[in-house]
Amino acid sequence: MDAEAVALVPAAGRGERLGDRDPKALVRVRGIPLVVHAVRGLLNAGCVRRVVVAAPLSHVDATRAVLADAGTGALVVPGGADRTDSVRLALRAALDESHDIQIVLVHDAARAFTPPEMIRAVVAAVAAGAPAVVPVLPVADTVKRVDAGEFVTGTVSRTDLRAAQTPQGFTLDVLCRACEAAAAGAGLTDRVGVPISTVPGHPAAMKVTTPFDLAVAEALLGAET
Ligand code: CTP
Ligand code: MG
Repeated sequence: MDAEAVALVPAAGRGERLGDRDPKALVRVRGIPLVVHAVRGLLNAGCVRRVVVAAPLSHVDATRAVLADAGTGALVVPGGADRTDSVRLALRAALDESHDIQIVLVHDAARAFTPPEMIRAVVAAVAAGAPAVVPVLPVADTVKRVDAGEFVTGTVSRTDLRAAQTPQGFTLDVLCRACEAAAAGAGLTDRVGVPISTVPGHPAAMKVTTPFDLAVAEALLGAET
């Protein structure tokens, strides 16, 4: 596949739930920062020609340094107050640089171990005409609804629930509209006014959120080497 997509990588979060001294994107797995794993994964998929990373405001230079040392060639810009804002800022930087963008991926730095086949599947779906694409997995756990006191009030049927992963894929104009809608509080794939397609997600595309997830990621990479 041609390297036809531009990838925006929101990496500007603090990582409160991980609880490290450094922002999550700079936390290392097997000695390599998560954001470097994530960007390498995108480039290794073979269908991404440019990567723009939104870095934590306090760590823009540090993020730039680790990505440059790894030879990724990624463009690093200061991120925003929430994920949507970080995506918007990365998109603006990508557009300042190139007027020839058709397919845009939005990929969390925290999903640093996403298989390249999944990244290719998202790009292929947009290239084949889907305006917006999300990788999803069935929900494995039984899902309960609770009240304000945490008492169970019911069981939610799993049949029409999916857990969403990234990269999300968009045509450029749909992502521009999604960013406007999201500024009003919606998720990027809510209220875009086009059908949102899905492709199968993968367990390895898990979001590193907690110290437990970090241990899983270490084990995952250990199993590969
Ligand atoms: N993100 C971002 N800008 C923000 C907040 C989040 O770019 N202001 C990014 C994170 O860096 C991450 C992705 O959005 O790659 C998904 O967010 P999440 O997993 O929640 O990361 P954090 O917000 O860093 O973690 P926490 O919520 O535990 O603080
Ligand atoms: Mg967060």
